[in-house]
Amino acid sequence: MDPVTNPFSPGAGSPPPELVGRDPILAQSRVLLGRVKQKRAEKSMLLTGLRGVGKTVLLNEIERLATAQEYRTISVEAYENKPLGPLIAPHLRRLLYELDRIAGVGNKVKRGLAVLRGCLGALKVTVDEVTVGLDIDPEKGTADSGDLEIDLPNLFVAIGEAAEDRKSAVAIFIDEIQYFSKKELGALIMAMHKIQQRQLPIVLLAAGLPILPGLAGEAKSYAERLFSFPDIGALSEEDAAKALQDPGKAAGVAFETSALDEVFRLTMGYAYFVQEWGYQAWNLAVSSPITKQVVQHATAIVIPRLDQNFFRVRYDRLTPSETNFLRAMAELGPGAHRTGDIADVLGVKVTSLGPVRAKLIKKGMIYSPAHGDMAFTVPLFDEFMVRAIPDFQP
Ligand SMILES: Nc1ncnc2c1ncn2[C@@H]1O[C@H](COP(=O)(O)OP(=O)(O)OP(=O)(O)O)[C@@H](O)[C@H]1O
Ligand SMILES: [Mg+2]
Repeated sequence: MDPVTNPFSPGAGSPPPELVGRDPILAQSRVLLGRVKQKRAEKSMLLTGLRGVGKTVLLNEIERLATAQEYRTISVEAYENKPLGPLIAPHLRRLLYELDRIAGVGNKVKRGLAVLRGCLGALKVTVDEVTVGLDIDPEKGTADSGDLEIDLPNLFVAIGEAAEDRKSAVAIFIDEIQYFSKKELGALIMAMHKIQQRQLPIVLLAAGLPILPGLAGEAKSYAERLFSFPDIGALSEEDAAKALQDPGKAAGVAFETSALDEVFRLTMGYAYFVQEWGYQAWNLAVSSPITKQVVQHATAIVIPRLDQNFFRVRYDRLTPSETNFLRAMAELGPGAHRTGDIADVLGVKVTSLGPVRAKLIKKGMIYSPAHGDMAFTVPLFDEFMVRAIPDFQP
């Protein structure tokens, strides 16, 4: 098939040709956006899921829904060791200027800018692009204590009031939110708590790894009453087939049932892998329908590609003791495993594994789906570890 017209889109955040299996979350988002706009109480949403399940593309789709409902949106991606203040401030400034342009007589927007200005000074945000253009006197005493847990809620309230004043609503999108520190996450949660108490039109929509509900709960115990944590999982067999068939059909190309079965067997329905197999199978196929044999040929290309790109980048960030821990985990096969069993494979005491396990959780490599259990955050990582270290000697 012509590679130029290949509809499949493996990548980070690349919109798929067909966003399958997410209708319930999209319906929930529509209700949430509709309610917040009418200033009715509703839990903000933190999507959680493993690497490559499709959190980013889903978050982007929800942003389109928000824009269609005439929300003003902010969209940021957190990354390791980047503080929240400088990350979000330029976007808040842009938002306030946008609100300023909406006709209205109130002075809440100007006040929002003054509060933001005060907050930036206190947080010592000296990023030029942020302070420049804020030629307004800082408001003293509202959000300028320098303590994020005090300032962020006050800043959000000022912004919420500005939006309310202009009969607008604000949706804040944060991807990879698990990278914020406990203090920052706590400040965000407190800010949303205050917004909800005042019934102001701000909603938070975020995505992160499955460690997120735990982190949020640790930061503030009331987080679970403030947010819903929809679990974004692998696609069902039917949806995975649809993700291949529908874009194929649109281009006049069919997949044999046995080919679809083989992709599902290999990918277990993980969206990113489905796109990779679809993409390579398309390029290899000489005619429609795409057969199981073509998929098998594609496998020989996809696996080394995944190893080099998707898996290797994570593997290369591991220390030898972390590698050893993960390899022992892989020895136990797919799914979640008790730390005690991992210790047994390594022939060490379970208590000695505490520090390395904590580091791996912090790096986002593993998480605890249930007390005492450990699982990979990257789908099929166990198979990769076995390929990377075939002769394992603990
Ligand atoms: N619902 C879906 N149907 C079909 N393909 C999808 C779906 N969701 C995501 N994909 C595809 O899966 C891949 C990964 O998507 P995305 O980058 O959104 O995942 P992610 O969960 O954000 O991953 P990460 O945790 O690494 O950031 C992309 O190639 C995307 O096109
Ligand atoms: Mg993502």
